[in-house]
Amino acid sequence: MAKAAAPSAVAAPEAAADDGSSRFEPSPTFSSRFVRACLRRPVDRTPVWFLRQAGRYMPEYMAVRKHHSLLEICRSPEIAAEVTITAAERLGVDAAIIFADLLLPFTPMGLDFEFVANEGPVVRSPIRTLEQVRALRTDRAEELGYVARAIEKVAAHFATRPRTETLHPDPDQLGMIGFCGAPFTLASYMIEGGSSRNYIETKKLMYGAGAERQTWPLLMEKLVTVLAAFAQQQVEAGADVIQVFDSWVGALSPTDYREYALAPTTELIQRIRALGVPVIYFGVDTASLLPAMRETGADVLGLDWRTPLDLAWHGLGYATAVQGNLDPIALFAPEAVLQARVAEILAQAGGRPGHIFNLGHGIVPGTPVEAVLQVVAQIKGHSH
Ligand code: CP3
Repeated sequence: MAKAAAPSAVAAPEAAADDGSSRFEPSPTFSSRFVRACLRRPVDRTPVWFLRQAGRYMPEYMAVRKHHSLLEICRSPEIAAEVTITAAERLGVDAAIIFADLLLPFTPMGLDFEFVANEGPVVRSPIRTLEQVRALRTDRAEELGYVARAIEKVAAHFATRPRTETLHPDPDQLGMIGFCGAPFTLASYMIEGGSSRNYIETKKLMYGAGAERQTWPLLMEKLVTVLAAFAQQQVEAGADVIQVFDSWVGALSPTDYREYALAPTTELIQRIRALGVPVIYFGVDTASLLPAMRETGADVLGLDWRTPLDLAWHGLGYATAVQGNLDPIALFAPEAVLQARVAEILAQAGGRPGHIFNLGHGIVPGTPVEAVLQVVAQIKGHSH
């Protein structure tokens, strides 16, 4: 796994955040086209990977899932690494994303949660008061070390075993993606207690009133502390890139995004970048937020499929790399339709450096694996 920063160059988060000069200067010798694209450097062809590439649509994952709960898989470095590797190799993609979950940091913060079948994550005692936020712990992030251990295993696997691709022999090295949630999206799970439609409790706490005005800033600060430490563990373990998931930030107006989410998110992203890795910042339904999201300084912005890629990228002044943005449900379309949608995205990207092909959101259960493989083959057949 190529990385610009030697371990000794990894600065303490606080120092790095204060010191603009520690800004990462990438080496031109990255052996991964995925990492090169994150840095808007030229590549031989567009790199491709898929959000939720290891998931319930894949029989290999379901076979493991039959014997283990989701949290067991996440917390067992051996199994998490195996699931990560199997998905990346089965699909022949350019990057592996570590198998983990957004909500894992809740446990060392002292907030219990569980995954309920067909419902998703559930927090039984959601956060609603300043007192509860004060009780959240920020000093136990090292308990998340099992994710870093899994990354080490995946990184070692891909470092010692060059990829063999049947169609296009390819010496390129796989990118290793670590990830964490963004403060807004994680706060929304803490406060709502699960998925939400209108984010009423989250926004009530965010807007604040009286004594509760301190609650949101304190929650943001605590989340940033834990998430930056979590990301640092992943980088030190071998993650080449960190993706920050702000999946539900599209619930905010641009004004509220700027007022309540931009500063803590920028802080988190800058702390991660100071570790020497590029950051992908991803959200859904974000067309109107993209200019503000760009101000976080993320190297790559994830685009959902509701925004044409060319329009979004032009609007960003081509000043960041972009990732996306096929509708995940297009994977259910007839072959010719799917092929046309993929071709459209490649044409919109126009071979500019800095496009990573992906979906606009995660692969859903029931997606035909053959359709995913068809997309990979099409991308690989399209050289710049
Ligand atoms: O290859 C991969 O991307 C898998 C690794 C991964 C998981 N969760 C495992 C998982 C990743 C990157 C995540 C991130 C995650 N977790 C997000 C952000 C991604 C996004 O879609 O925007 C979010 C919002 C969560 C929280 C979460 N975890 C939800 C809402 C759910 C239930 C919804 C669903 O898809 O079922 C989960 C469960 C979960 N996390 C599954 C997987 C593979 C599916 C459930 C299972 O296997 O039992």
